Amino acid sequence: MERRSGDGNAGGRVRLAVAGAATMAVLGPLVWLWQASLLPETYSVMDMGHVDYGGGPRGAMAHAGGGASAHGAHAGAGRDVTRLVADPDRRADVAVTMVARKERFRLPSGRAFEGFTLNGQSPGPVIKATKGQLVQVRLINESVPGGITLHWHGMDVPNAADGVAGVTQDAVGIGKEFTYRFVADQAGTFWYHSHQMSHEQVRGGLLGALVVAPAAQDKATDEAADEAMDVVALVHLYNGVRTVNGREGDVPVQAPPGTRVRVRVINTEYGLMPTWAGGAPYRLAAVDGTEVNGAAPVRDKAVAVAAGGRADIEVTMPEDGSPVRIHLGGPAGVVLGSASYAAPPVPRPAAMLDLLTYGAPAPLAFDPGRPDRRFAYDMGRRPGFLDGVPGLWWTINGHLYPDVPMFHVAEGDVVRMRISNDSGEAHPMHLHGHHAVVLSRDGVPATGSPWWVDSLEVGAGESYEIAFVADNPGVWMDHCHNLPHASEGLTAHLMYEGVTTPFTVGGPAANEPE
Ligand code: C2O
Ligand code: CU
Repeated sequence: MERRSGDGNAGGRVRLAVAGAATMAVLGPLVWLWQASLLPETYSVMDMGHVDYGGGPRGAMAHAGGGASAHGAHAGAGRDVTRLVADPDRRADVAVTMVARKERFRLPSGRAFEGFTLNGQSPGPVIKATKGQLVQVRLINESVPGGITLHWHGMDVPNAADGVAGVTQDAVGIGKEFTYRFVADQAGTFWYHSHQMSHEQVRGGLLGALVVAPAAQDKATDEAADEAMDVVALVHLYNGVRTVNGREGDVPVQAPPGTRVRVRVINTEYGLMPTWAGGAPYRLAAVDGTEVNGAAPVRDKAVAVAAGGRADIEVTMPEDGSPVRIHLGGPAGVVLGSASYAAPPVPRPAAMLDLLTYGAPAPLAFDPGRPDRRFAYDMGRRPGFLDGVPGLWWTINGHLYPDVPMFHVAEGDVVRMRISNDSGEAHPMHLHGHHAVVLSRDGVPATGSPWWVDSLEVGAGESYEIAFVADNPGVWMDHCHNLPHASEGLTAHLMYEGVTTPFTVGGPAANEPE
């Protein structure tokens, strides 16, 4: 390169000064943005972002004489989440102790995995209860650094038992314990997992299945609920290795001809899991722990199970004794059989079952047409700083975490929420403590069975309207269950008027819910 010497140092200085000013003009705001994005050492989610009242009242009890007093708390005086518990005087019907460890363990195939166990196994033990029973789980942390919790995914527990570190409790450090108590008041398929550093601990195996059977009196009135065989199929990847109930390869299950079998599929992974049956038609009996009304037999369609979601697949074993294969999105499946388990894989059906139209309509117990509040949860993506780290980050209603909405409700409110997704990637959205019913997708109304969800896949470019009744006071997470996304800021909360939390993110317990 040719060197010019004529204009000397003065010109160079001017150029430098101009360059410096230009740099400052660009850098100044950047530095400001960077600094503004830094998260404090410790903070309460109650102070995070901005309160969104959804067009409803801001303070006074919206429903005079509502549930607040029914729960025996001082109405409007501020209820601490630790007081939102199951009846402390009631004895447990199902009592489980779980000891968590960080350890190297072997899958039944012999493959070693460095992760976490509950009572020496991963997945942890299947917790079984009958509807109406009080479940009590004593969690002991023997050796998991950083602390742990257990969240009861899809079970609408009292807030104090929700297991979110920094929101409903402190993470349980090594040598400490915490007891969860809740009434299993919904029959169905659920699961549990840690909600401390969940993107690491869930992947590492701190999870298990929770199955609630219908109560005897419900069985008598519902012929679909009697005498079916029950199989849990919890799908999890250990270091990229797909397993069903912790096993690599097929899980064979003895099922004589003519038997009705309910396979409770649980997707603990981050993406949609296509599920279908080979060898017999199936019915999609339940979604996210709620029975589908008028579930008709399905032949050439697959069910897309959202991350965190569940699908109960029911088949009747063929009379000729031939086996049935339940495909779970990959090489490992469940093979139901008696004489033989040689069920060759069948290709995935091209069409997906659309839950917007599947099943028969039924009246709802509330009127979503007259909501007390309307919220928007619009997801996008843009460049910016997240806790000082530059990147292309998720946004909620145009803002980056922690400048996200705090959805404010009063107990008894009917709530509508639009969830839209312009972020270019799919997000499985999970609201804690509530089930919501899907009203429409992309403006097309739902016409099938009421489609109740706790884990809803919102694909890129899609928009859903959902509705729920605010009937479970607390402070509840509402986040993406592709857990790395949650830790990248796709997290907001729903709070109830008059409810506060004493817990903070960070702090001495090093709470880190995502
Ligand atoms: Cu499986 Cu915050 O949830
Ligand atoms: Cu996501």
